[in-house]
Amino acid sequence: MTTRLVTSALPYANGPIHLGHMVEHVQTDIHVRFLRATGDEVTWICAADAHGTPIEVNAGKAGVAPADFAERYRAEQARTFRAFGIGHDTYYTTHSPENQAWAYRVYDALKARGLIYKRSVEQLYCERDARFLPDRFVKGTCPKCGAEGQYGDVCEVCGTTYDPRELRAPACALCGSAPVVRTSDHAYVDLRRPEVSGVVRAWVEAEGHLEPAVRQQVKGWLDDLQDWCITRDAPYFGFPVKDPDFPGKFLYVWVDAPIGYLSSGEHHFAAEVEPSRRLAPADFEARYLAPGAPTRLEHFIGKDILRFHAVFWPAMLWAAGLKLPDRMAVHGHLTVNGEKMSKSRGTFINASTYLEAGLDPELLRYYFAASLGAGVSDLDLSLEEFRNRINADLANNVANLASRVAALLLRTPGRATTAAPDPEVAAAIRAALPAARAAYHELQYREVVRLVSQVASVCNRRVQETRPWEAPDGPAARAVLVTIGEALCGLALMLGPIMPVFAGKLAAAFGQAAPRVWTEALDPIDGAGVEVATKPPQIARLEASQVERLVGGGGASRSAPRASPGEGAARATARPAAEPVFGVIQYEDFARVELRVGLVRSAEPVPKADKLLRLSVDVGEPEARTIVAGIAQAYPDPGALVGLRIVVVANLAPRPLRGITSQGMLLAAGEPPALRVVTVDPGVAPGARVK
Ligand code: 2FM
Ligand code: ZN
Repeated sequence: MTTRLVTSALPYANGPIHLGHMVEHVQTDIHVRFLRATGDEVTWICAADAHGTPIEVNAGKAGVAPADFAERYRAEQARTFRAFGIGHDTYYTTHSPENQAWAYRVYDALKARGLIYKRSVEQLYCERDARFLPDRFVKGTCPKCGAEGQYGDVCEVCGTTYDPRELRAPACALCGSAPVVRTSDHAYVDLRRPEVSGVVRAWVEAEGHLEPAVRQQVKGWLDDLQDWCITRDAPYFGFPVKDPDFPGKFLYVWVDAPIGYLSSGEHHFAAEVEPSRRLAPADFEARYLAPGAPTRLEHFIGKDILRFHAVFWPAMLWAAGLKLPDRMAVHGHLTVNGEKMSKSRGTFINASTYLEAGLDPELLRYYFAASLGAGVSDLDLSLEEFRNRINADLANNVANLASRVAALLLRTPGRATTAAPDPEVAAAIRAALPAARAAYHELQYREVVRLVSQVASVCNRRVQETRPWEAPDGPAARAVLVTIGEALCGLALMLGPIMPVFAGKLAAAFGQAAPRVWTEALDPIDGAGVEVATKPPQIARLEASQVERLVGGGGASRSAPRASPGEGAARATARPAAEPVFGVIQYEDFARVELRVGLVRSAEPVPKADKLLRLSVDVGEPEARTIVAGIAQAYPDPGALVGLRIVVVANLAPRPLRGITSQGMLLAAGEPPALRVVTVDPGVAPGARVK
């Protein structure tokens, strides 16, 4: 059992939660739930990041105090996260007395180590607004490519980064007036000093802290270390600097933001847990933060804030005499339909928009998991792919399997066991569970999802092969059904961190009400059997119109790009409702079926079998094949079939039907009497492969 403090990056209290945030919080939530399922003791800390110029400016525009403005968003963000099943143990704020005390402690520690020095800096200043302008509050013409309307730090057109003073024709983004250059004294942290840069480098290079590709990037920054400016001028929403060397300055938001991890943890253990678990701040520090503390500190962040976390943050922790993080998991950004989320294109999706579209948050969690590996690659929410995955993987492969199997098991109520588990299903789930455990530890969630699909496909195949509906009470059928029921409980364990509600209901449906501890030795086919207790949870197939509500502000007539232009909402809803597809197969499974064109030479009734016809079919072989098919009621005049080119399963094992050996099977669509054999164009020769 390992004790862990896990964090996700603190969203700015400056707006609602969007799906970009959600990627990280879903990733962390899955990690936390998985570890808890294995018996670890995990505390997940998050908070709203309340400080900085944008919040101060937006609060001013809204006519409220910045603290109230931030609190409003903090509360809204917490509600949104809860609606997505995101289970932070705390969602506090960086604008707290605890954080202020911690921020001063870190500042004082940096100062005491002689790492803070004063530097006079030139910055753009708006005389009309009476404020220095952060990079994002200046717009002008790119000095490199001439693109207009670029921010003060980077040109979105040519990608050049520059100092805002280099912008041509700069203008204050608030009032449009031309800024002037002014100097101001600021506190800098001397990161190049060997005692600190050495600590950071050692941390970066140690195994396990960063993924190799991320480590390389951070090492690049360490090779060209820049000192770090940690103060800002008024007006600012943040903690005032107490150091008399820097009168009137505020601590830069990026100093107290990560410190918010510590202060929110301290607050949680001091005030939010039940009395028997409460920890005084000193005990919290000793247990969780001190060097050598018997816990792991794990951060989840996006790649855009890596430098703050992998260079500055370890330096701050070290200066304050605290342990450094044990792991920093870095993820990529979310794109929508292959492009950066964009408000103008209608692809900037707030989490509330997803909820308002009536979509189950667990479906998005599943989709994100199916797309997430341990690396920093971006993750795309393709609306078409989202729908396909949910429909194919969840609705068909897992949920439909569960309800079919449960329905068959219910034919004999009570607990069902088997002494002879289906070997293929048992082997599949027994191999998948430890592989999924390893994948979860590595944050390779897409591998977990692949394993779930693989096991479900094996189960579906075994259902098709063994046809338990023909004699559901017989021992052979019971053996398959019980084994699949047990395997579904195993799948519930695997899916639990990703879709806790669905997985809980799935396990409960097969008689496992209490969650199991996911030990390494756990054997899902343990002979305990299953007992169908409730109806298994269903997943309704997603229609294009539902997912398209996510982009462009709703409705079918918007101009936002679509995943597949031909599949407009109106067309999708007009489609007749079809039976859910049962079972998903891999391409290799399909490729094993040999379909051939057959020319019907003759067709006649089978004596004493009013449903069967006996056909003689030329499938391009020297001898015509005899095929017995249950289509007599649909073809009262069998002669109508003669001369048709039909589709025959040519590699099906021959089987006797009413004393006649049928040497294949023909394809037909619909139900009698409206059933029709599948035909192909007369231009295709008998024996041609159908693919
Ligand atoms: O980039 C952001 O959204 C920041 N608010 C993240 C802060 S993470 C941590 F340092 F607090
Ligand atoms: Zn201005």
